[in-house]
Amino acid sequence: MIRAVVLLSGRGSNLKALLEADLPVQFIAAISNRPDAAGLEFARARNIPAISLDHKTYPSREAFDQALIQEIEKAGAELIILAGYMRILTKAFVERYQGRLINIHPSLLPAFPGLRTHEAALAEGVKIHGCTVHFVTPELDHGPIIIQAAVPVLPNDTAETLASRVLVEEHKIYPLAIKWFAEGRLVISDGVVNVMNPERSQSVLSY
Ligand code: GAR
Repeated sequence: MIRAVVLLSGRGSNLKALLEADLPVQFIAAISNRPDAAGLEFARARNIPAISLDHKTYPSREAFDQALIQEIEKAGAELIILAGYMRILTKAFVERYQGRLINIHPSLLPAFPGLRTHEAALAEGVKIHGCTVHFVTPELDHGPIIIQAAVPVLPNDTAETLASRVLVEEHKIYPLAIKWFAEGRLVISDGVVNVMNPERSQSVLSY
């Protein structure tokens, strides 16, 4: 079993999906930059250390990320999972963990990086939207793509209805991507990820 920490900032539904997925992963801590993050409760309920590091109490982004690194090293994590972690990481942090730092983003990257992806998708009038699990690089919402799931955009969608359709898929593809990582089945070549012996495709179409 590989040892993983999950970083989050809020609701924690992706953390919950990961904890419920019966993965070959030992979750050794959940860390939030927001002390009031509801998602920490999912960790506590399973006796997983829930750590809050309030970013507002640090003088700089660098100082905060150093504190984060200390917690991660103390826990002895091999894999760092970002699950709704809404803070930009420093280059030093990302480079330190590159190749074992994974994120989920609520769009079909490289479309719609950044915040408010569902609003942006509706404003562009795209007919297909979705989510992406990817390795993290210093460029925001960028990096080798592990798996994507696509959903239709329907005529009467609001950002909320679209977000909830995407979220259902997030909860399916994130555990699968982490399982592949934990089993050592992800191969990155020229910035492209291939899965050895995938039980399902790296593209999931939910229509
Ligand atoms: C999820 O939709 C996740 O993809 C998104 O935040 C939400 C967190 O929900 N992440 C990002 O936007 C990262 N840039 P959750 O706390 O219920 O897992």
